[in-house]
Amino acid sequence: MDTEPTAPAAPRAGSRSLPEPLGDAFLARPGETLAHFRETCPVARVRTPAGRPAWLVTRAEDVRAGFLDARLSLSGGRVPDPTRRRRALEVTLVNYDPPDHTRIRRLATPALTPARMAAHRRRIERAAADLLATADASRDGGPVELMDAFARPLAFLSLCEVFGVREEERAALYEPVARLADKAACTPRAVEDSVARIDAFVRAEMTRRAAGPGEDLVSRTLAEWRTQGGATEDEVASLLAMLLLAGFDSTVQAIGMSTVALLAHPRVQRQLREDPARIPRAVDELLRWDTPGPFATKRVALEDIPFGDTVVPAGSGVLLSVAAANHDPRCHADPETLDPARRTAGRHLTFGLGPHYCPGSALARLELTVALTAVLAHWNRLTAAIPLDELTWSGGYLHRRLTALPVLPGGLR
Ligand code: HEM
Repeated sequence: MDTEPTAPAAPRAGSRSLPEPLGDAFLARPGETLAHFRETCPVARVRTPAGRPAWLVTRAEDVRAGFLDARLSLSGGRVPDPTRRRRALEVTLVNYDPPDHTRIRRLATPALTPARMAAHRRRIERAAADLLATADASRDGGPVELMDAFARPLAFLSLCEVFGVREEERAALYEPVARLADKAACTPRAVEDSVARIDAFVRAEMTRRAAGPGEDLVSRTLAEWRTQGGATEDEVASLLAMLLLAGFDSTVQAIGMSTVALLAHPRVQRQLREDPARIPRAVDELLRWDTPGPFATKRVALEDIPFGDTVVPAGSGVLLSVAAANHDPRCHADPETLDPARRTAGRHLTFGLGPHYCPGSALARLELTVALTAVLAHWNRLTAAIPLDELTWSGGYLHRRLTALPVLPGGLR
């Protein structure tokens, strides 16, 4: 077990507000700010970078309770009008509460089980091996930028496999998916154009698969829709579009962040390389260790809700901090140690909990297992090409993004 040095950092004493704006320091090491809140003021009034007030919940027990509390709403109490025509992504699963949420979500979940995802394993493994071979062939002894050379294409190809996207459609689909993953870097017009392209793609796939179904996610979702009904065509299109988008950058970032953890913990890296059977379990510890989403989607309290001694008043915005909960010593002993054999690792909240629990978790775990196994098997050593504290981060407080990850591979194994 290696330990990472921890620096007790804190926002301004007594300020109880997240540092504003949530700049580079928070994006690179959100754990320091969040630990301060968890240990000093576990249910705190804060302001988001946009200046909106919210309550920040940081203890594991409270975060778990929040995920399971139906009075914490994602729709804000608004009931969607299913007769209104909507473009895909205008309203997604994270804008609905049960029962509307349930009737839409259940159309896709049977197609995303671990057993269904395992059927894609061989092809994802082949994609990973090909990408690493290409990275080697083009690096000329220099570093490899792992996000562009490996994490992004692997996550995209995995989604294409699961969705059954035809080879000839993939290049055109990549651009809008990648753009929407980094909206901040796009003009509003580029965002608009990307949404329109995803909308058109998903509807064309629905038409194609209705005429000739296969074993893919789109065909299976349409089959459930035919059997169960209960959703409009727009809602099904939105469901599929959201799966495509939510499944991309979160997994790209998880591959990058897991690799950063292994670069910072060479002993763990060596252990996993020597005994790859330990990787599937280590994946959960790596998901606990760092996450692209420090907070779940912002919720709204429909009633006064007590968290311990503090009552969050009705109408308030609530941020459940997954990252703070994952390092709560009340839930995970010695949380600042990366322990690939940790017994409690599976209790991390990186995929959320309750009705909105990530439906793509089996695919994400599979991709991470395949990605790390491939990287560790391909290269006999991996070191960072720049000091880890010089890595650059972008995105926002709800979704952190590692911009680039230059690594220096050792020899081939
Ligand atoms: C490591 C990668 C991933 C992480 C960390 C992650 C994390 C999460 C979290 C925390 C939630 C719950 C949000 C909330 O309750 O506020 C969520 C929901 C969701 N995720 Fe993931 N996810 C990942 C991969 C994926 C993949 C691969 C897919 C698609 C194949 C996906 C699709 C979705 C969808 C559609 C939702 C909304 C579910 C709902 O509202 O019912 N995610 N994810």
